[in-house]
Amino acid sequence: MSGAEAEAAAVVADQETVLVVDFGAQYAQLIARRVREARVYSEIVPHTITAAEVAERAPAAIIFSGGPKSVNVEHSPRIDPAIYDLGVPILGICYGAQLIAAQLGGEVGGGGAGEYGRTSLTRIAGSPSTLLTDDLPDEQSVWMSHFDAVTRVPDGFVATAASEGAPAAVIECPDRRIWAVQYHPEVAHTPHGQQLIARFLHDLAGCAAEWTMGNFIDASVEAIRAQVGSGRAICGLSGGVDSAVAAALVHRAIGSQLTCVFVDTGLMRKDEGEQVVDTFHRHQGIELIHVRAADRFFDRLAGLTDPEDKRKAIGELFIRVFEDARGGVEDARFLVQGTLYPDVIESGTAHAATIKSHHNVGGLPEDLDFDLVEPLRLLFKDEVRAVGAELGLPDEIVWRQPFPGPGLGVRIIGEVTPDKVALLQEADAIVREELRAAGLEREIWQSFAVLPDIRTVGVMGDERTYGHPIIIRAVTSEDAMTADWARIPYDVLETMASRIINEVPGVNRVAYDITSKPPGTIEWE
Ligand code: XMP
Repeated sequence: MSGAEAEAAAVVADQETVLVVDFGAQYAQLIARRVREARVYSEIVPHTITAAEVAERAPAAIIFSGGPKSVNVEHSPRIDPAIYDLGVPILGICYGAQLIAAQLGGEVGGGGAGEYGRTSLTRIAGSPSTLLTDDLPDEQSVWMSHFDAVTRVPDGFVATAASEGAPAAVIECPDRRIWAVQYHPEVAHTPHGQQLIARFLHDLAGCAAEWTMGNFIDASVEAIRAQVGSGRAICGLSGGVDSAVAAALVHRAIGSQLTCVFVDTGLMRKDEGEQVVDTFHRHQGIELIHVRAADRFFDRLAGLTDPEDKRKAIGELFIRVFEDARGGVEDARFLVQGTLYPDVIESGTAHAATIKSHHNVGGLPEDLDFDLVEPLRLLFKDEVRAVGAELGLPDEIVWRQPFPGPGLGVRIIGEVTPDKVALLQEADAIVREELRAAGLEREIWQSFAVLPDIRTVGVMGDERTYGHPIIIRAVTSEDAMTADWARIPYDVLETMASRIINEVPGVNRVAYDITSKPPGTIEWE
């Protein structure tokens, strides 16, 4: 176990834990988040976990996720059946429900047409009153996504609700403490979904609602002190929320033993560098080394136009500059990183194709020879924001939108020059200002301006112009894996466009990007 893993384990040592068993696809993360919203700590585990391993973890409950396979095909994922006999409360969802039925002697069939999307779920008349669904309406709308369905319930189970394509859409066996639903309570499209999850956790499994960010901070502070002792730590600040919250948390634990390094690449948003120094050094009193490295970055980027070449150049130079700055804190043995739980989960899964080589402050290579301190490695993004707010960081940092490590370098198509950065910073600031003014900032995942490598003809005051277009990009997303273009009201777009053209010299046209991800990506490079 690494130092960072031990630190994480210490933080949750006394927490009731719900294990979310991952049967594939991307359902497990969302379930784990919903469990935490019910204030119970959750962790995702692979379906290969054995009953002995589960027993050792002594979880308060187990939830089986959905998955893309059919339980009736060979090699579909299973779970060690001895887990059913541990007496730990289990909730099966979709594939998880079918697996429970199949493994405990029921039947799952694929005869129907399946159900996809909004579906009506009805309580089965005369079914016994059960704690799982008691407080839910007799008829409710739920989100379904299944082809197979449970066609015969296992002995000892009763079916308490049905939909047209799933005669046993909710099955229950209170004696064995096993419950299962065919639908997806974890998605927002199931209005009573969170209520069902909370019911299972609090009333059936008896979990207390104790996972709060206040408790998390207290436990983390102790764990960080235990890990770092009297050593020195450094932390690279990017201006983003993750490294900011990690730094503030570690500072609360070890105070002046922490030094932050802020590498100003010259590729940040307008006034961002000043804001970082202001927040952390002047207000939080954190010791900060401010490296002004814009010239080095522009020199290195001269002549580069290929997106991957640019990304690599920025990433490598960043590490070099960071290493140079380390000279100022020579005895630092610990490196603080803002790694989040989704990164931890992802690095444990099979390799996905590299779409873009990501670089971020959290991605400093391990051979930099530090012990890692990763106080956020158990948290989802919304929890990180809550910790940041609790630690007193200002809204502009806590609610800052994600920003790519290579910064504006990947929002300027083609060669990156100081002039282009200056132009893009102005246009980008207007996009974000107007979005904030319209009260849309928090519901939009990212909004920014892109400067393409083309020019366009226009007319201003009877004069022909030949200037730069700016592309506005704004997306909604839950996790950046998929995204949709944001339906920003036309009048807001219009204000953005006219302000950009009037206030940013050299720009004579504005376009709005209406590509979702996939097939596009959020960034242009
Ligand atoms: P794409 O463009 O791949 O971006 O849809 C997904 C999310 O990741 C951010 N992004 C990065 N973040 N280092 C980062 O830390 C990077 O190199 C990087 N490239 C893209 C992007 O802003 C979006 O939120």
